[in-house]
Order: sequence, then C-alpha cells, then structure tokens
Amino acid sequence: MAVGRADIKIYAIIVAAGSGSRFGAQLPKQFCRMKGRPVVMTSIERVREAVPGVELRLVLSEAFIDQWAEWCREYGFASPVVVGGGSTRWESVRNAIESIPVDADRRAIVMVHDAARPLLTPEVATGLIAALEQGYDGAVPCVPVVDSIRRVFPDGRSEAVDRSEYRAVQTPQAFRLEDLREAYLRPFEPAMTDDASVMEAAGRSDIALVDGADCLMKITRPGDLDIVERML
Ligand code: C5P
Repeated sequence: MAVGRADIKIYAIIVAAGSGSRFGAQLPKQFCRMKGRPVVMTSIERVREAVPGVELRLVLSEAFIDQWAEWCREYGFASPVVVGGGSTRWESVRNAIESIPVDADRRAIVMVHDAARPLLTPEVATGLIAALEQGYDGAVPCVPVVDSIRRVFPDGRSEAVDRSEYRAVQTPQAFRLEDLREAYLRPFEPAMTDDASVMEAAGRSDIALVDGADCLMKITRPGDLDIVERML
C-alpha cells in the first residue's frame, strides 16, 4: 500500500544511537539479533516497505559506525545515509534534521522513528500521512493504556488517575519538515522525550492521535525481544 502523495517527499529518521541501559544486554537493544540479524535492519526494512520512496537517515553513536558498516557487509544489507548521534534522543534527532539539505522542499514530511520499534505497519504509516494532509501540526500513533496509572507527587504520595484519559505514544511521529526544523532550534528540556513534545514546546500543539499497533511496542526490557520476534 503506497502512502503519501507522489509529489511530496518523505524523509524518515531512525534513531539508533541509544545505549539501552534498561535492556541489560552486552549490545544496545537495537543491535541485538532478531531472526539472526540486528533489530535495526528490520526497523529499516519495515519503513522502506511501508513508505515507498522514503529517504532515510540512520542515527548511530560514533562507537557503532564502523561496526554497522561491517554488519551491512556481513548481511548484504543496503545502509541508509548514516548520521552521528548525540547524548540524548533529542540531540540525535537534531543531528539528523541538520543532515537534510537546507533547500529541501519545505512541504516535505519527516517521520521520526525509534530503531527499537522494529515492526512498523503500512496502516500506521498511512494514518500518519493522512492526518498531516488534513492539516494537523503533527501525527503520532497511540494505544490505550492497559495498566492502572497513579500520579506520583514529589513528597512520595500518589493518587489514582483515570487511565481512559491517557494514551501511550509510539513512533514513527510525523511532521512537516519546516515545522520540525524550527522546533528543534529551541533549547532542550528534559520533558522532551519524543518529537511531539518538542513541537508542542514550539507552540505546534495540534497533534493528531492515530491508531498505533501492539506490534509497534518498544524493545526496552529483557524479554521484549522475544515478544517482538514472535510477532514478526
Ligand atoms: O532510550 P529510549 O528507549 O527512550 O530510546 C528511544 C530511541 O532513541 C532508541 O531507538 C534509541 O536508540 C534512540 N536514542 C538515540 N540517541 C540517544 C538516546 C536514544 O538515538 N542519545
């Protein structure tokens, strides 16, 4: 299924420069083997399939750039353009935005995607692009929250909240290039854990929530890799 209009360019930034400290493996989670290959190769393939003609940027920490080239040779994998990462996800995304030519079409769409969410579906990609075409500032895939949720106060007290008022947010998150570029010129704040929060801080808060997918879960803890591999 093709997404987007043929005359609008779509860039995808895949951030893979994290160290994966919660995962507890020797390698960062995005490089652990899934069906015998580094996870990020599946992430890249799925984006290429869901968004035909997409122009990709892969963000890697400097420590893995040579190793990545070696894996690409070993697995016969065509690498996208590689960009050096930063010490936060925000910095990694900013570096990738800076690698997009300054004279690129201002109407171009950028999708920012976590390498640790390997199973993008065409349906999610289509929903994101459709929302942007309707005029939203951005679009993010969401799923309902399944656990009960408590709000925790600085003094340690907590209170139950109504989980039906909340959504868990996934990636890819889609925006127009010129808006995202402008938003990433502002200084980093710790609450900027994804790109929609960066856009909101820049005053672009009309963000569409589109249906996410269970298979888009982020590999975070030991055991998640097995779950995602079974869904593959
Ligand atoms: O750590 P977390 O799971 O929130 O990271 C989300 C995504 O951002 C991962 O794919 C990770 O590799 C990437 N990341 C990055 N640069 C960082 C930190 C995280 O590209 N400095």
